Amino acid sequence: MKKSIEDYDLYNKKIIIRVDFNVPIKDNKILDDNRIVSSLKTIKYAIKKGAKVILMSHLGRIKEESDKSKNSLEPISIRLSELLNQKVYFVKNTRGEELEKAIDNLKNGEVLLMENTRFEDLNNKGESSNDINLGKYWASLGDIFINDAFGTSHRSHASNVGIASNLPSGVGFLIEKELNSFKILDNPKRPYTVILGGSKVEDKIGVIENLVKVSDYILVGGAMAYTFLKTMGYNVGSSLIDYNSIDFCTKILKQYKDKIILPVDSICSKKIDGEIEEKNNDEFEDDDIGLDIGSKTIENFKNIIEKSNTIVWNGPLGYFEIDKYSKGTKEILKSLDNSKIVIIGGGDTASAAINFGYKDKFTHISTGGGASLELLEGKKLPGIEVIDDK
Ligand code: 3PG
Repeated sequence: MKKSIEDYDLYNKKIIIRVDFNVPIKDNKILDDNRIVSSLKTIKYAIKKGAKVILMSHLGRIKEESDKSKNSLEPISIRLSELLNQKVYFVKNTRGEELEKAIDNLKNGEVLLMENTRFEDLNNKGESSNDINLGKYWASLGDIFINDAFGTSHRSHASNVGIASNLPSGVGFLIEKELNSFKILDNPKRPYTVILGGSKVEDKIGVIENLVKVSDYILVGGAMAYTFLKTMGYNVGSSLIDYNSIDFCTKILKQYKDKIILPVDSICSKKIDGEIEEKNNDEFEDDDIGLDIGSKTIENFKNIIEKSNTIVWNGPLGYFEIDKYSKGTKEILKSLDNSKIVIIGGGDTASAAINFGYKDKFTHISTGGGASLELLEGKKLPGIEVIDDK
């Protein structure tokens, strides 16, 4: 078991908390602050315990100088300050005298946010390649390291693995909550149903291989369903096909044909912004693109969901960002109620659940996209593995 923030005396100590503030921002406006809100419990705890709180996060990917301005954490410091109802000192640098002085000047209970850790990627990918000296330098700024960036825990970067290798460490409340929620799946109440969507089978091979053995049903929707349907001999028209995964689909369907449930109909169109038509699998024309599950499939999926007791969902069932292709995802969200354990993997499925108004309805909506996928694949997360054991 990993040490947690509660295992340390934080009073008068400099606590570096790695958070995941990688949130969508457009024209300096935060479009979804869920990850910031989810970090508050740990930050408020450290404030209450009299720590000097140093927050670090990445935002976006920094490949060249011009990526910096749109990926500054400054707008996040303003939002965080509103949410905490106290000043957040924002430091525009990721190293150097200004940062060190600002940290030295912090009083107990005060909060500082350092600029985007990935600005250091312009120095030989220092952050993303877990540069040893960078990890040591950042660790030298604090006394204790708390990792609460679940969404980044599948990465081995200087700001998580690097710092944790050089300081006493623990996990924050968000990581604890995420791990406890996914742990339910180790011993699920049956029937246990997995809903999988998204565009490419290739991205989900690890998840399918891991979960097909332990679940009772896998309901497949989204563009990835058409690769499965193609291997069964259907003409899927111009739908997205993941040719690299044809052999995998053939093999897995043969082995688990009763567990893997595929769409029987789809919402199709000749072009994304064209007229829509509902078609059975054997009615596709060469120029039809499948963009959502159809109404018979929705009913089939709902019937299985109704008798299930544990549901884990990763990947939307259609091109939900466009209203006319969002019905499948919306209807399935609507059919899930809190009499069941419902765990929503992060990324697009979490945004769909939150945007369509289901933020508080489910057992758990993960804040991690890639990280939750790796957990579902049964992998260990380096950002958590590195944390001190109790
Ligand atoms: C995420 O959004 O999945 C995390 O913040 C990690 O971001 P990354 O994929 O750019 O490493």
